[in-house]
Amino acid sequence: MKTRIFRSAEDQTGAGTADPTHAVRMGGQVLPAAVSEASETAGDADRIEAAAESSRQADQTVVATPPTGPIKIAARDVSVFYEGKQALFEVSLDIPDKTVTALIGPSGCGKSTFLRTMNRMNDTISGAKVTGRIAMDGEDINDRSIDPVLLRARVGMVFQRPNPFPKSIYENVAYGPKIHGLVSAKSEMDGVVESALKRAGLWDEVADRLQSSAMGLSGGQQQRLVIARAIAVNPEVILMDEPCSALDPIATARIEELIDELRERFCIVIVTHSMAQAARVSQRTAFFHMGRLVETGDTEDIFQNPRERRTLDYITGRFG
Ligand SMILES: Nc1ncnc2c1ncn2[C@@H]1O[C@H](COP(=O)(O)OP(=O)(O)OP(=O)(O)O)[C@@H](O)[C@H]1O
Ligand SMILES: [Mg+2]
Repeated sequence: MKTRIFRSAEDQTGAGTADPTHAVRMGGQVLPAAVSEASETAGDADRIEAAAESSRQADQTVVATPPTGPIKIAARDVSVFYEGKQALFEVSLDIPDKTVTALIGPSGCGKSTFLRTMNRMNDTISGAKVTGRIAMDGEDINDRSIDPVLLRARVGMVFQRPNPFPKSIYENVAYGPKIHGLVSAKSEMDGVVESALKRAGLWDEVADRLQSSAMGLSGGQQQRLVIARAIAVNPEVILMDEPCSALDPIATARIEELIDELRERFCIVIVTHSMAQAARVSQRTAFFHMGRLVETGDTEDIFQNPRERRTLDYITGRFG
């Protein structure tokens, strides 16, 4: 898949308006030269349509703003097939470190599928096949030398519904460090558990009941416990698939705050159906539609000045 990049602020005439419906006209002014020239006499709306059409035809991903800072995960031409049926089409995306990247798009567009390619969870689905290359710190994660179990400790995952083990709060967090042999002494494990629970913002609520069952926690607490469990093995990346969709607004706000704190140390990728959440928690956004990555860039840019008609229609609620 070819990628169109709008390189600099100078390219982006009129970038940055708060009104997304206005932004489409702004988007019309940042067309690549070939498209702009071809439709020089047409009005803004026609030019936008021409740009959208040309991009559709070429299946290009529009990179509104390229990421700055070190890239943690680089996906190149990643396709996924389920029983031979293609669900993801040649997705190329750079995911920067110490940043929250939001994956957005309508149901069935391939967000979870793409998320799972980053810790090889698709390997566990029979009939699923992944092609293309995904590199983490430059290393191909699908290389035969990579142990997927160890990879999943480096690239942790948090799901839609909190899924604590039916064990004590302490054991939930200690489980990963124990099976990966990271800690042997009990006192050391106590420290690891405490530190993970603190970083997940749960310590104060559970310090006096570490031996109680995790199943007795509220949904929001369970989700923070699952995040503590992921953190306890010192991951580098945390993948979150709609982590707040089963939570109430207060628990959601708590998780969003936590995500913002965690990005200081981790590379975070979050799938969300909430445009407001994507705008609040992420610095980068990638918009998927029908198995393709349509547009990616700085979150502010994607929401305020989308270049693609489909992006605008989705973020303004016209479909999805
Ligand atoms: N295990 C599977 N077996 C077969 N097809 C699958 C499987 N998982 C996903 N698909 C198909 O792949 C496509 C992308 O699905 P995916 O779950 O990645 O979408 P999504 O964007 O996460 O959707 P949602 O927002 O509803 O979670 C869909 O057509 C879906 O039916
Ligand atoms: Mg999904």
